[in-house]
Amino acid sequence: MTCADLVVAGLDQLLTCGGPVPRTGPAMREVGLLEKAWIAGCQGKIVFIGPEKEFREKVKLVEGARVIDGRGLVGLPGLVDCHTHLPFAGNREKEFSLRLQGYTYQQLAAMGLGIQTTVRATREASREELKDLCRKRLQTMLLNGTTTVEAKSGYGLNFEDEIKQLEVVRELEAEQPVSLVPTFMGAHEIPPEYRAERRAYIELLINRVMPEVRRRRLAEFFDIFCEPTVFTLEETRELAEAALRLGFKLKIHSDEFVPIGGTELAVELGARSVEHLINITSAGVEKLSRSRTAAVLLPGVSFFLMMEKRAPARELLDRGAIVALASDFNPGSSHLLSMLFVLQLGVFTLRLTVEEAINACTINAAYAIDRQDRCGSLEPGKDFDLILCDLPSYLSLAYELGRNPVKTVIKAGRVAVEDGRLTG
Ligand code: NIG
Ligand code: FE
Repeated sequence: MTCADLVVAGLDQLLTCGGPVPRTGPAMREVGLLEKAWIAGCQGKIVFIGPEKEFREKVKLVEGARVIDGRGLVGLPGLVDCHTHLPFAGNREKEFSLRLQGYTYQQLAAMGLGIQTTVRATREASREELKDLCRKRLQTMLLNGTTTVEAKSGYGLNFEDEIKQLEVVRELEAEQPVSLVPTFMGAHEIPPEYRAERRAYIELLINRVMPEVRRRRLAEFFDIFCEPTVFTLEETRELAEAALRLGFKLKIHSDEFVPIGGTELAVELGARSVEHLINITSAGVEKLSRSRTAAVLLPGVSFFLMMEKRAPARELLDRGAIVALASDFNPGSSHLLSMLFVLQLGVFTLRLTVEEAINACTINAAYAIDRQDRCGSLEPGKDFDLILCDLPSYLSLAYELGRNPVKTVIKAGRVAVEDGRLTG
């Protein structure tokens, strides 16, 4: 007999998203649908998934075990947001309003606004202020069904403030339920004080900040904004190679506005993922589709920046690329915390099927941050991260807009949200 301390009984539908990882091609249309399903966990891990009869034969409840009634609900893996710029201070409401008057995102950056505005605010914020901001954001994410979040630094752009951002992420990992995967992104922009001597900033990163971040294990991934107005292809290669030597895993922001070869470089260097790809070339699509590097698409950006152009998601999927979706949560180009909204943008603006979008927000997103062994699908042995939605069927995850259907969130075997409220 298997022991269980938490059971969800009789779910109308349970999507396991289980099977080979990462998911590509026709497998993207399989979500592992079970009906009238029971799922049980013990000490934070999943121990059973199946029908009631088998549950009664195989599972024994420990004393004090809890059974949640799943009737009328749809269950799926906790959502994985594999690309966010979580730890920043301030906001860019005024610049948003300037954009509505006709300024473009790049024009604002050229005026010393954009990322620089957020750098100023983040440097000024105390550690506690930054932490409170992040804690509230994580609560909102959890209420919307996100149970694992990747979090990038990149608004400090100096030794102290990059470390401050990563320390805040580390402290929050220990203090609240959402799992955090930290990424060092000191190469998000050249800070204003180094504009005239960009070489010195690159050397600061390579010789001082990156070794310290690795020594203290403050980040697992290294990410860089490869764009002609930010870091050139040559600079991206130099920084990425230095990061790999130090033991970081690699991600690259590439082809957001102008394609300069960042995607091809990411594949060549065996990056875990490459992000944005709104302006990826056909050569880039070709290379990426034959690689193990995940294409992390961020449909919130085209939407939020009101761009006509979108990442060629259908082409990438049809050619067998590993496609994941994420929020890119940040104050300038995607002020968006809900992964269900991302899933819907994936369907409505990138033309994914509902099943493809679900896999892109769960198991492939877990792959993009190397957490496929822990989360992203519901299978015995994995973390018991489950969300229960009040919907007639899983199709309504995309079909029903503008309402949060997440009733219950189980994170690592604990009920973190109940009746749509944090349990505290
Ligand atoms: O992923 N592209 C670079 N960085 C962010 C935007 C940062 C900002 O505007 O503050 C992004 O879109
Ligand atoms: Fe980003």
